[in-house]
This record gives sequence, structure tokens and C-alpha cells, in this order.
Amino acid sequence: MSQPARCFFMVESQPMAAQRAANFSTAHPLGGFARCAASFFAVVAFSACTDPVAPQRPIEREGSTHAMPTPDRRREQNAVAENSACIACHTDQAREWEGSRHHTAHTNDAYQKALAIEPSSFCRGCHAPEADPTHQAKPAVGALGVGCVTCHVTSPGTVLAAPLSNPLTYPPSSDPPSGLGASALPPHTIVRSADFAGAKACEHCHEFKFPVPRGNEDRDYMQTTVREHARASTANLTCSNCHMPETGSHRSHAFNQTRNTAWFVQTLAVKAEWSDPSTFQLTLAQQAPGHGFPTGDLFRRVHIHVEVRADSGEILYHENRVLARHFDLVPGYSGRQLTGDNRIFDEPLAIPFSVLLPTPHTQHSTLFWNVEYQRAATVGTGKNPDEVQIESVEPLQSGQIPVPEVTPNPQRSTGYQ
Ligand code: HEC
Ligand code: HEC
Ligand code: HEC
Ligand code: HEC
Ligand code: HEC
Repeated sequence: MSQPARCFFMVESQPMAAQRAANFSTAHPLGGFARCAASFFAVVAFSACTDPVAPQRPIEREGSTHAMPTPDRRREQNAVAENSACIACHTDQAREWEGSRHHTAHTNDAYQKALAIEPSSFCRGCHAPEADPTHQAKPAVGALGVGCVTCHVTSPGTVLAAPLSNPLTYPPSSDPPSGLGASALPPHTIVRSADFAGAKACEHCHEFKFPVPRGNEDRDYMQTTVREHARASTANLTCSNCHMPETGSHRSHAFNQTRNTAWFVQTLAVKAEWSDPSTFQLTLAQQAPGHGFPTGDLFRRVHIHVEVRADSGEILYHENRVLARHFDLVPGYSGRQLTGDNRIFDEPLAIPFSVLLPTPHTQHSTLFWNVEYQRAATVGTGKNPDEVQIESVEPLQSGQIPVPEVTPNPQRSTGYQ
């Protein structure tokens, strides 16, 4: 078999590894990959890449100085080709990733609609990270979205992985966690990095500033998930602990719990009570507070609706509350301004409603409450609830409670607060 000099992704002996380091600087970063992958089994079977010696595990390096995944990679078709090779071997992770929003980051409807409103290289750099963001993404590169290579291959010829020694990452076991079995030899160099097992693997994409230059406060950021996590009581857990659950053989790459209503419902506990005869109170608590609830995109919100209905059906009172980072368009400033943040963090959040019923209030009545998670496409100016366009909704909790037989009051509440 010929000796492909640029065949980085191959079983290699120690001397070859040294040579490979020299090759990195001169060879094209990804060019030889697909061919290498195709020849992998042949390489192992016949040991044809080297002298006929037993194949060894490739060098595994540990450290925390390795580059972490970022947007704006511009590897174009090379990324697509290399990604196909990952998929061909790691079929379990591939199946999960193929159904994930990482894979559809550039093609999903919600993003495409938002991009149409403000088509910018800023957006494309992250949602189509392997494309050149200054142009419309080539279809195949856009369709890759956030690929295996985007997260795992940050420098040519190596694959990032979590340290085996991290008990949070892998339960103690002698089996490598790829799901391919202990006897399988990787055709690529593995770089084990504690950073990759933690929030740093996610931070360059899941925390970022508005494109207009500003400071370093929360208000200057479009997404703040990583700093929220660092402040949370679960800061010692990794993002993957919650978002890449163990499947038995490996960590899930589906990242789809956040699209699973049942999962959402059990993440938030809600207590409903009258704290006094005219104050209805909802207390919302995250079961495992990884960060603010809701987190992520700036238009994510929790919407609460409370209404009192008389037995006759007449609505005696209603009120809405929105828990979110509230952004307004402020004349004279470019971009959106953060004007408030009333989300749920570590502590349970008590939300009182002064239930002011019209006089006379003689009918028997019931209070109905409803809490839902909303993905808003836009909130318009941020001031008028009617301008909000909702993309999708996860129903969280709802209930009803009789209204105490007191509380006459001349006012009637209607609006948002
Ligand atoms: C630095 C990375 C980054 C940049 C830049 C970025 N986004 Fe995102 N975007 C994300 C991440 C991460 C999420 C996932 C968070 C979530 O779902 O709440 C997301 C989610 C979204 C969603 C929700 C998609 C869905 O599936 O519901 C939309 C829409 C969106 N972004 C549009 C945009 C637009 C438009 C721009 C440019 C103005 C942009 N993004 C710029 C990282 C980025
Ligand atoms: C959004 C980033 C991201 C993407 C996309 C991604 N991975 Fe991973 N992958 C990770 C992280 C982070 C870990 C380590 C998690 C841990 O153990 O803490 C990991 C772990 C793995 C592992 C070790 C075994 C396991 O699953 O626990 C393999 C193998 C793997 N990924 C392959 C792939 C392949 C193949 C693809 C594409 C089909 C892919 N990954 C896409 C981030 C990603
Ligand atoms: C020709 C098959 C093949 C190709 C192509 C391939 N891998 Fe692997 N990979 C393996 C094998 C075999 C192992 C080692 C199995 C083990 O350790 O259990 C492995 C190990 C890994 C691990 C480490 C798992 C651990 O021990 O923590 C990661 C992460 C990984 N591969 C990701 C990738 C990514 C990303 C790509 C594409 C850039 C890729 N692989 C391409 C076969 C392949
Ligand atoms: C290269 C950028 C990038 C990296 C690295 C990355 N993500 Fe993402 N992630 C995105 C984008 C963009 C989206 C939004 C996709 C869309 O449009 O719906 C997303 C979506 C998600 C979602 C789904 C949100 C939803 O709306 O349902 C979760 C969960 C998530 N990422 C977790 C992680 C975790 C955990 C890590 C680190 C292990 C990580 N991501 C690494 C860019 C990235
Ligand atoms: C203790 C568990 C836990 C940890 C740790 C955790 N999360 Fe979450 N994550 C959740 C829960 C629960 C939700 C759903 C409610 C919400 O939006 O907060 C969620 C939601 C998300 C979403 C989706 C938001 C949306 O729009 O649907 C993204 C993206 C995300 N997390 C990213 C991360 C990243 C990145 C990290 C690490 C910095 C992380 N998470 C750490 C539990 C966790």
C-alpha cells in the first residue's frame, strides 16, 4: 500500500507520530482524511502503513491548552468530507447528531426566518460555522451545521475527547466510551482535554456579545448561558452532564431534551397558593438549576397567565407575567438594551398576584393559572406584548384553585406587568 504522507488519521507508531508533527505544518489540514478513513481497516488488517508490527494505540495527549470549538471555521467542503468519515465509524453518535439542532443549526425554519430579517455574517458564523460567513453558505456546508468536526477537530489531525479520568464524565470503567469496544483502535490521534469535558466546549457559541461593540456586563451579551452556569449551584457539573446524558454505551449527541415536553415539565416545580385572601402566589423552582430558566436565545421566555372565572363564566380578573431577559429598542442606542431580568435562577421565585375583583363579588369563582415556555421569534420593540411572534410553546404546568370568599375591590386588573 502506498504511504500517504498526509494520512493523519491513521494508526501510527511512535516514530511516525514524531514525523506527523512535522507534517502538520506543511500539509493541507484536512485533505487526506477521507482517503485515510477508507484505508483504516486495511491499515489495521495488514499493518501496511508501517513495518509489519502490531498496531498500537495512537498517542493520547492530555492537557488544557487545546483550542476549543469556535464559530467561523471556514473549512468549507473539507469539513463536509471529514465529517462523513466520522459518521461512517461512529454510527451511534451520528444517528443522534443527525436529528439534533446542532446539525440543523443553519437549515431550521426558525433560524432561516430570523436570518431573512437580518441576513448577516455574524449569524452565519455560528449557525453555519464551517462556511465562509461573508457569503451565503454553500448548501452542503450550511447543511452540515455544527458538525462532529466543528466540536471535535479544532486543530488538524487530532480529535478532542474528554479525559477518561474525569469521574463526572465517565463512570469508572475499563471500556473506552466510544461505544466501539475496547479492542477497537482509533485511526486518529485523540487529545483528551478537561476543558472539552466542561463548559469551555460550548462557551464560544453559547455565550456571545451583541455585534455592536459594548462592554463586558450581562447586558452586553446576546446569550449568557455560560456565565449563568458558572454562577449556579451546579457550577461543578458540566454542560454534558445534563445535556449529553449517558445512554449506556456513550453520551447522547441528540441535544434534544430541550425539545421534549415531558423533560421540560419535570425540570420546573410550581406551587400555587393564596398567601393571603387577596394575594395569589405562584412559586417556581428549577429542580436542577444549570443556569437561568429560560436561558439561551434572547427571546426565550416563561409566560404565566392567571385568570379568575365566576361560575357563570364571566372573567373577573386576568393578568399575564413574562419571565425573561427583557430587551427594548431604545431610541439613540444601536441594538437592543437589557432593561430587566426576572428569570428563575438557583432560588425558588415567588410571584405574587394581587387579585383585585370587581365589587360586588358575590358569585363563586375559581382562579385558573397556566405556566408555559415560549420560544419567541421576535418581541418587536419589546414594549408591546401584541408585537411578540411565538415560534413554539412547551406547556409546563397549569392548575386551578377556588377563590377565597372575600376581597371586594373597585379596581380590575387587565394588563401585563
Ligand atoms: C456566537 C454564536 C451565535 C451567533 C453569532 C448567533 N447565534 Fe443564533 N443561536 C446560537 C445558539 C447557541 C442558539 C441556541 C440557544 C437556544 O436555542 O436558545 C441560537 C439560537 C437561535 C435561534 C433559535 C433557533 C431555534 O431552533 O429555535 C434563532 C432564531 C437564532 N439563533 C437566530 C440568530 C440570528 C438571526 C443571528 C444573527 C443576528 C444569530 N442567531 C447569531 C448561537 C448564535
Ligand atoms: C456540540 C458539540 C459536539 C458535536 C456536534 C459532536 N460532539 Fe462528540 N462529543 C462532544 C463532547 C463535549 C463530548 C464529551 C462529553 C463528555 O464526556 O463530557 C463528546 C464525546 C464524543 C465521543 C466519545 C464517546 C461518547 O459519545 O461519549 C465520540 C466518539 C464522539 N463524541 C463522536 C462524535 C461524532 C461522530 C459526532 C458527529 C456525528 C460528534 N461527536 C458531534 C461534543 C460534540
Ligand atoms: C475509521 C473509523 C473512524 C473514523 C473515520 C473516526 N473514528 Fe473516532 N474512533 C474510532 C475508534 C475505533 C476509536 C476508539 C474506540 C475506543 O476508544 O473505544 C475512536 C475514538 C474516538 C473518540 C474518543 C472516544 C474516547 O475514548 O473518549 C472520539 C471523540 C472520536 N473517535 C471522534 C471522532 C471524530 C470526531 C471523527 C471524525 C473527525 C472520528 N472519530 C473519525 C474510529 C473512527
Ligand atoms: C460551533 C458552535 C456551537 C458549539 C461549540 C456548541 N453549540 Fe449548542 N448550539 C449551537 C447553535 C447555533 C444552536 C442552535 C441551533 C438552532 O438554530 O436551533 C445550538 C443548540 C443547542 C441546544 C438546543 C437548544 C434548543 O433550542 O433546543 C443545546 C441543548 C445545545 N446547543 C447545547 C450545547 C452544549 C452543551 C455544547 C457544548 C458541549 C454546545 N451546545 C456546543 C452552536 C454550538
Ligand atoms: C443541572 C443541569 C444543567 C446544566 C449543568 C446545564 N443545563 Fe442547560 N438546560 C437545563 C435545563 C433544565 C434546561 C431547560 C430550561 C432552561 O431553558 O433553562 C436547559 C436548557 C438549555 C438550553 C436550551 C435553551 C432553549 O432555548 O431551549 C441550552 C442551549 C442550554 N441549556 C445550554 C447549556 C450549556 C451551554 C451549559 C453549560 C454551560 C448548560 N446548559 C448546563 C439543565 C442544565
